[in-house]
Amino acid sequence: MVPAAAAVKRVGDPRRTPLRTLAFHLTFRAALGLVSTLMSDVLELSGVSLVRGGKALLDDIDWQVREGERWVIMGPNGAGKTTLLQIAGARIHPTRGVAGILDEVLGAVDVFELRPRIGLASASLAAQIPEHETVLNVVVTASYGVTGRWREQYEKLDERRAFNLLHNWGVSTMLNRPFASLSEGERKRVQIARALMADPELLLLDEPAAGLDLAGREDLVARLSELAADEDSPAIVLVTHHLEEVPPGFTHAMLLRDGAVVAAGPIDDVLVAEHLSQAFDLPLEVTRRDGRYSAVARS
Ligand SMILES: Nc1ncnc2c1ncn2[C@@H]1O[C@H](COP(=O)(O)OP(=O)(O)OP(=O)(O)O)[C@@H](O)[C@H]1O
Ligand SMILES: [Mg+2]
Repeated sequence: MVPAAAAVKRVGDPRRTPLRTLAFHLTFRAALGLVSTLMSDVLELSGVSLVRGGKALLDDIDWQVREGERWVIMGPNGAGKTTLLQIAGARIHPTRGVAGILDEVLGAVDVFELRPRIGLASASLAAQIPEHETVLNVVVTASYGVTGRWREQYEKLDERRAFNLLHNWGVSTMLNRPFASLSEGERKRVQIARALMADPELLLLDEPAAGLDLAGREDLVARLSELAADEDSPAIVLVTHHLEEVPPGFTHAMLLRDGAVVAAGPIDDVLVAEHLSQAFDLPLEVTRRDGRYSAVARS
């Protein structure tokens, strides 16, 4: 069986010959190895750009995520957040620059070995789930990196882990329901359980609170805050549009605009009026209370 992600196409830098690219990767990899013995990077992007149709969707991104960090990425529609997550999840390759992921270098590693080490929950992944797939199967199939149970044999242990995750995320009573019959909030929690199924070293969540009502959002924010506080949790990168959705306990933030970084670093330094106003091109007032953020337009 060929996982759906097999269709991913490598876009190389036309200015580099394969040998030069390999030499560059090996040099970078040696440097990465040296650095990682010191601080263990989960992500290390250096000069990463992604060009499509002559347009830079991402432009010269430098970004480091270390073990234990919990990042939030914000920026207006079209800023490049999902594209960045696709690179971090080894779904697409940069056009230029080097993407180090879990001590491997994209382009010099078999992505089918790398991807299972990364948990991803996104709208595009959810759209690949067959309509009648049961909730249990949505989660358990993550151990094979597929979306749709076919003839794979799963260990009892896998099914138990899937059940436990569904239980932790409050949806274990829906085990045998078709995924498509769930409410948006229930679906979001099943997707996160799926992303955690393969015990990932990096968890990528693209707008997990999109489409939730107020109670659903608050429930999810509290659960993500708990996940962030658990020292056994993997490094987390969360994309959101709303400051109110930033879970307490998240440690770092990046603001993107037009494919470029406006600000990145410790969350308290980044989620401030000056940077957010620049990112969203709107004068904003930002408040923080009990670890929760909110923003309104400055009058
Ligand atoms: N294959 C492609 N070819 C051309 N442009 C693309 C392609 N994929 C994405 N884009 C464009 O790249 C830009 C960034 O898209 P991306 O989905 O990363 O933005 P985003 O920050 O996640 O936005 P949103 O908040 O709306 O989800 C958008 O303008 C989008 O139209
Ligand atoms: Mg997006």
